[in-house]
Amino acid sequence: MPYPSTREIVNKAWKMGIVVPAYNVPYLPMLEPIVRALRDSGSFGLIQVARLETVKFKAESFTRIAEEYGKFKDPNFTRLHLDHVPVIDEDGLSIDYVEEITGAMKAGYESVMVDGSRLPFEENVAATRKVVEAAKRFNVPVEGELGAVIGHEAGPMPPYEELFSSGKGFTDPREASEFVKRSNVDWLSVAIGNFHGAVAPGRRDDKKIAARLNIEHLKKINAVAGVPLVLHGGSGIQKECLREAFKNGIAKINVGTNIRQPYERGSAESAEKGGEMVYAAMLDVIKNELGVEGTAGKLLG
Ligand code: 13P
Repeated sequence: MPYPSTREIVNKAWKMGIVVPAYNVPYLPMLEPIVRALRDSGSFGLIQVARLETVKFKAESFTRIAEEYGKFKDPNFTRLHLDHVPVIDEDGLSIDYVEEITGAMKAGYESVMVDGSRLPFEENVAATRKVVEAAKRFNVPVEGELGAVIGHEAGPMPPYEELFSSGKGFTDPREASEFVKRSNVDWLSVAIGNFHGAVAPGRRDDKKIAARLNIEHLKKINAVAGVPLVLHGGSGIQKECLREAFKNGIAKINVGTNIRQPYERGSAESAEKGGEMVYAAMLDVIKNELGVEGTAGKLLG
């Protein structure tokens, strides 16, 4: 029996109300302890890298991550995903996104994300559609984003409570439905109170505010989107909100800051300590934050 594809696994997770976490790898040595922690806890996860992690951190390149993944991967517990390739990046630069994403698919990425969320709606649809077309020949699922999941940009964050209570930047359910139909995207990343941990120099050590999620709003999106939904900014979200989100359409959650910061603290002491810290942080995320111990058997069995 061949191993199930990422598309099949995420669809199954969505139907079962299980979440597939995707772990960011901004430093190459993080990859091995992440895979080891998944295997040791019987948990399924995606290993992912975002474009900005090759530019602002030490992931080097999509190809280097794919090579490193090739050394440690375990098809019973892992798949390789390409996180944020923005059309316009967090500093306002235009990115050659179709070429970069196509290059990654050639290098073996098994699912990809195009982030057109900084574009007006029509342009986001068009850009996402282009990537969906390019992905067809690789039979690779595509994640798009609609709504403003802020945090990667330089400059101070607006006050969180104001952001949450106003719902400013939240994904509009009607737009979500139209976006999925017209772009044919496989998975949709949504904004419902979640935000990314900071990556700007000088702020990347900051502890994240414990975000909340507007579950009623999520339910409205989930009722009409028709595809698995994705939650970015998965570090440090209040646990009760997470549990409800997984029951209401969130089938993939991205986790970066919660494993990156321990790695950075540990590796400042020694390479070995860096690895130990990631491994311990992974077990904490798997068992305590997300409650995803033992999901590999349920999703691949
Ligand atoms: P956090 O760093 O806030 O966990 O977000 C990660 C993420 O969403 C990467 O796309």
